[in-house]
Amino acid sequence: MIGRLNHVAIAVPDLQAAAAQYRDTLGARVGAPQDEPEHGVTVVFIELPNTKIELLHPLGDASPIQGFLDKQPSGGIHHICYEVDDILAARDRLLASGARVLGPAEPKIGAHGKPVLFLHPKDFNGCLIELEQT
Ligand code: CO
Repeated sequence: MIGRLNHVAIAVPDLQAAAAQYRDTLGARVGAPQDEPEHGVTVVFIELPNTKIELLHPLGDASPIQGFLDKQPSGGIHHICYEVDDILAARDRLLASGARVLGPAEPKIGAHGKPVLFLHPKDFNGCLIELEQT
């Protein structure tokens, strides 16, 4: 059911420093910061030959990234995103298997303008999984 790895998202305490590190030290192609107010994040996209990295930084008071950074102040992997062909079919299959979808279980439009869902990390070995319909 799941396809390609779409991206790995890393929560970072200092977005400018992290973007500069990926650009200058690691030599990656790094985009400009984009505010995503409906998700409570500012994102920097990094294009790699085989996938993307997203640097996530809190935006606003109710950001889900802030709680993560409170627990891990130096940052860390926040989630990984797998591609699916049909997000509603994927959701129904997961719910039928007993997995939990975070939130209202209706896909939201994600940072790439495509429908996304998040799966409960306790159901997937401690890893927050995002599914994106491509
Ligand atoms: Co993501």
